[in-house]
Amino acid sequence: MNESERDELIQAALDAQRRAYCPYSGFPVGAALRTASGRVYPGVNVENASYGLTTCAERVAAGAAVAAGEREFTAIAVASRGGVSPCGACRQFLAEFNPKLLVLMVDSQRPDSVREVTLDRLLPDRFEGPH
Ligand code: THU
Repeated sequence: MNESERDELIQAALDAQRRAYCPYSGFPVGAALRTASGRVYPGVNVENASYGLTTCAERVAAGAAVAAGEREFTAIAVASRGGVSPCGACRQFLAEFNPKLLVLMVDSQRPDSVREVTLDRLLPDRFEGPH
């Protein structure tokens, strides 16, 4: 990913964040997932009156990519207040497709300071299924 692709991904996550449906938490999250084909899939957190049904932005983006026929994930940008790290469930969900996925954590109030890490550092020794 070159610098303009990286900027595009960060911007797509920030754009998506504005479309989050989060009336219960008031914490909008936007994600943008890049695939090997070069496409970018946005996701937002989608909350529900039955709180536990909430889906995170990262999983919505991953589901959209898979539904479009894409399975080779290269990077994901996640935009939120404070630039939070993906939750444990999302780490496992994303690792299914690329355990070494590049993760960019974007603070929407300071979009120039982006934390960067690979998924294997966030989720070492992931569950790979029964053997
Ligand atoms: N959330 C995400 O969308 N992604 C994360 O990685 C962490 C949490 C959402 C879920 C919920 O709608 C809100 O943030 C507060 O937890």
